[in-house]
Amino acid sequence: MRKNLNRREQVLDLLYQFQDQYLSGEELSNKLGVSRTTIWKYIKYFREAGYEIESSSKVGYRLLNRPDKLLPEEIKRNLTTEIIGQNILYYQQVDSTNQIARKKAEEGAKEGTLVIAERQVAGKGRLSRDYFSPQGGIWFSCILRPGLKPAWATRVTYIISLAVAKTINQLTTVEAKIKWPNDILINDRKVCGLLTEMGAELDQVDYLVVGSGINLNFPLNELPQQIHTKATTLYSELEKKVDRLQFIQRLLLEIETYYQQLTDFDTILAEWEEYAYTLGKEVVIKDIKRERKGIAVEIAPDGALVIESNGKREKVYSGDVSLSHQEFDSGN
Ligand code: BTN
Repeated sequence: MRKNLNRREQVLDLLYQFQDQYLSGEELSNKLGVSRTTIWKYIKYFREAGYEIESSSKVGYRLLNRPDKLLPEEIKRNLTTEIIGQNILYYQQVDSTNQIARKKAEEGAKEGTLVIAERQVAGKGRLSRDYFSPQGGIWFSCILRPGLKPAWATRVTYIISLAVAKTINQLTTVEAKIKWPNDILINDRKVCGLLTEMGAELDQVDYLVVGSGINLNFPLNELPQQIHTKATTLYSELEKKVDRLQFIQRLLLEIETYYQQLTDFDTILAEWEEYAYTLGKEVVIKDIKRERKGIAVEIAPDGALVIESNGKREKVYSGDVSLSHQEFDSGN
């Protein structure tokens, strides 16, 4: 039996292990040390969740098919992380996973807790924008407690963007790039956005909630018309679906690996720069107060983007970046 699985996850794990044969209610109840009535309740739960499970009073149960859902039992089955995703709160539909994750973090949820939903109806983007989140994408928020100074929180956004870009590049045939500070692009169009929110005391981060919205298995026309020229989905790029479970399992592992290297930020930045879309290009950066133009030359050790204009260098900590010939961003 795999580690860290609760009873329900163990039932599913056994059904998978015995997929080629039948598993009797008695065997299941012996292996797990629970009554056959309890086993029946678990089977009922999985059927209601969309699993096809054959059952015969003589030979027992057999798993035939699983639903296309990011259920915690499924994510955890082949998840090799220690922290990230070991506690998962799953929803069919929510307003915003970030909103739920912040509440759970305030209530003391464990580091690595994941809030994941099949769809969001009020997904939040940066700068109070909407983030459209239909069925088929991956919409989740991760609660982290890095015990860092608030100014270091940007590091976490770097590692998540790096993890998303790397996962796309490893599991698909398209090339993902990172647009500073936290958009992932494919062929110049946004496929993923990150929203990091923080709960902090004066000198220490209490929690970070990093929300990630990945346009995965749905066609572009499910997003509003006004963003069609700027957004893309993996399904539109690849013309086929990506295995969402495999994708999220790999992504969580990448996040954990980088998260454990958070104190070695130079190494992370060096790798991040290999994916950088913005560096070396002329950019315009807009924030609430002003607009700045220059060549994006490097990322400073503290995570700021350094731009150069008329021989003068300036650090930028936040804002909306576009290449100087492009329109500004909005939502996905
Ligand atoms: C942006 O590009 O402006 C950031 C988008 C962040 C979207 C994700 S989807 C999961 C999580 N829940 C939210 O409401 N937002 C983030």
